[in-house]
Amino acid sequence: MNIKESQQWELLEKHYEEFSSADMRQLFSENPNRFSEFSIKSDGLLFDYSKNIINKETMQLLYDLADAADLKTKTHEMFSGEKINNTEKRAVLHTALRNLSNIPVEFEGSDVMPDVNRVLDQMKDFVADIHSGNRLGYTDKKINTVVNIGIGGSDLGPAMVCESLQKYAVEGMSVYFVSNVDGTHIRETLNKIDPETTLFIIASKSFTTQETLTNANTAKDWFVESCGNPEHVAKHFIALSTNTEACTKFGIDPANMFEFWNWVGGRYSLWSAIGISIALYIGFDNFLELISGAHEADNDFRTKEYNENIPVIMALLGIWYANFFGVRTHAVIPYDQYMDKFADFLQQLDMESNGKSVTRDGEEVDYTTGPVVWGQPGTNAQHSFFQLIHQGTQLIPADFISFANSLNPSGEHHKILLSNFFAQTEALMKGKTEEEARAELVASGMNEKDIQNLLKHKVFEGNSPTTTFLFKELTPKTLGRLIAMYEHKVFVQGVIWNLNSFDQWGVELGKQLAKKILPELEDSAVAGNHDSSTLGLIDFYKKMKK
Ligand code: F6P
Repeated sequence: MNIKESQQWELLEKHYEEFSSADMRQLFSENPNRFSEFSIKSDGLLFDYSKNIINKETMQLLYDLADAADLKTKTHEMFSGEKINNTEKRAVLHTALRNLSNIPVEFEGSDVMPDVNRVLDQMKDFVADIHSGNRLGYTDKKINTVVNIGIGGSDLGPAMVCESLQKYAVEGMSVYFVSNVDGTHIRETLNKIDPETTLFIIASKSFTTQETLTNANTAKDWFVESCGNPEHVAKHFIALSTNTEACTKFGIDPANMFEFWNWVGGRYSLWSAIGISIALYIGFDNFLELISGAHEADNDFRTKEYNENIPVIMALLGIWYANFFGVRTHAVIPYDQYMDKFADFLQQLDMESNGKSVTRDGEEVDYTTGPVVWGQPGTNAQHSFFQLIHQGTQLIPADFISFANSLNPSGEHHKILLSNFFAQTEALMKGKTEEEARAELVASGMNEKDIQNLLKHKVFEGNSPTTTFLFKELTPKTLGRLIAMYEHKVFVQGVIWNLNSFDQWGVELGKQLAKKILPELEDSAVAGNHDSSTLGLIDFYKKMKK
C-alpha cells in the first residue's frame, strides 16, 4: 500500500491545512498543561516535545498513520529475525547483540544468542588480557594504544562513543581512528604512536572496503618495517569481520579474529565485535553498560504505547515536518562537548538508512523521505549556523540534547551552558515580535530613524520546532539508550515511508567508477570513456602532479 493513499495520510493533510499556522506561543498560553501533555519523564530522562507545532489531534493522527503502516507487525518482524532487509536477503538483528536478558532470538531455526555470547566472552577475555598485561607487545611492553582502522559503520559508531565517553577511559589507554583513504590520516596517526605498544584493529564487515584495506596494509608495512619481523604482526593486529577468509588472507591469526554476522548492519554494528575499540578504551564493564542502556531502550520501544514511546514520537514528528510542512532537514545539537561527533554518527545512521527514493518493492516514492541530518555541539553552534535557524527562510526542526550534571564541574561553566540550552529552545519557539523589538529599541534610547532602519532585523518569527532530551548525566548507559532511540526512530520512519532502511546501494556507483579511474591515473595510461569535465579534471591532475 502507498501510505500517501491511506485515509490517515489524507486526514493529516486536512489537519495540516487547518493547524499548520498555529502559533506555539498561543498554544502554550491556551493550555497550561501543554508541557506535561507533551513530555515524558523516564528513568533519569526528560523528553520534552511540547515545543513542536502539534496538538493532541496531530499526535493521534500520527499514531493512526503508524498503525496504517503496520508498525507493530514490522517491529515484531525486526526483533524476531525476519529477513526485512529484502534486497540483501538479510535479517536485521542488532537488537540481539544487546539482548542481555538472553531470551532466545531465532534466526533460520536456531538461537543466535549462544554465538552472540561466545563473541562477547572472547572480547571480554581479550580486553582483560590487554589491560592486565597478560597479552603484551612484541618487546613485552604493555599495549596502551589502540588504532581502529575502518570506515562508515566500522568507524563512526566506535569513534563517536569513545569520544563521548573519554571521561570513562581506562587509565593510560589512548585510541585513534583512521578512516579516510587520504594517506594523511594514517600517516599522521603513525607519527604519533609507538609500534611496541600499539594494537591495530582492522574493522570491516566485508573486509573488502578499499579505504580500510589500503590503510591496513600501510599500517602493516610500517609496523613490519619498525619491528623488522613480520611474525610480530600476530601480536599487534586483530580483525573484526564477517569475512574470515579475507582476514586470514590479510595475515591475521584466526585466534585474533572477532566474528560478527550478516544480520548486523554496518551502521548498527557498534554493539558487536566492531565495538572492541570501545571496550579496550573504556573497559569491558562500561561497554556492557552501554549495551544495557540500548537493551532498555529496545524493551521500551517494543512494549510502550505510542504516546509513551520516545523513538516513535521522534519519528512521527519527523514525518509531520517532512511530509506535511515540506521540511528537508533536521538539526541535532548536543550541549556537551564530549558529543562532538554525535551528529557525524547520526548522519550515516539516518541518511544511509533512509536516503532512498524507491520503496522496498522498487516503486518510486511520491513523498519526501530521509532528511539531511546535521549538527554541532552548543554553544559553538549558536555562533555559527543558529542565525539561519532563527531568522532564515527555512523551517529547521532541531533536537537539543544535554545533561543536568557536568562530568567536569568547573565554576559557573555548566550553569552557563544550560542557561543557553534552555534559552535557545525558548527563543526558537517564542521569537520576538515587531512590537517587542520596537519596545526594546525605544527603551535603549534609540532615535526613531535608527529604529526604523533596524526594526525588521531585530524581529524573530519564532515558532521553530525543537525537541529536548535532558538526561541526568552522560554515562555509558545513557549514551547506549540515546543511540538506540535514534536507531529506532530511523526504523519507524523507514516503515512509514516503506523503505528498506538496511541496505545502501547508493554508495556503489561512486565506488565502481573510482575502480575504473584508478588505473587511468598511471602516467602511461590514457583516460577512458568519460564526459569532458571528468576527462579535463584527470588531465589537469596528471599535468600538475609531481
Ligand atoms: O559506505 C558503505 C558501507 O558499506 C557502509 O554501509 C559500511 O558501514 C562501510 O561501507 C564500511 O563497510 P565495511 O565494514 O564492510 O568495511
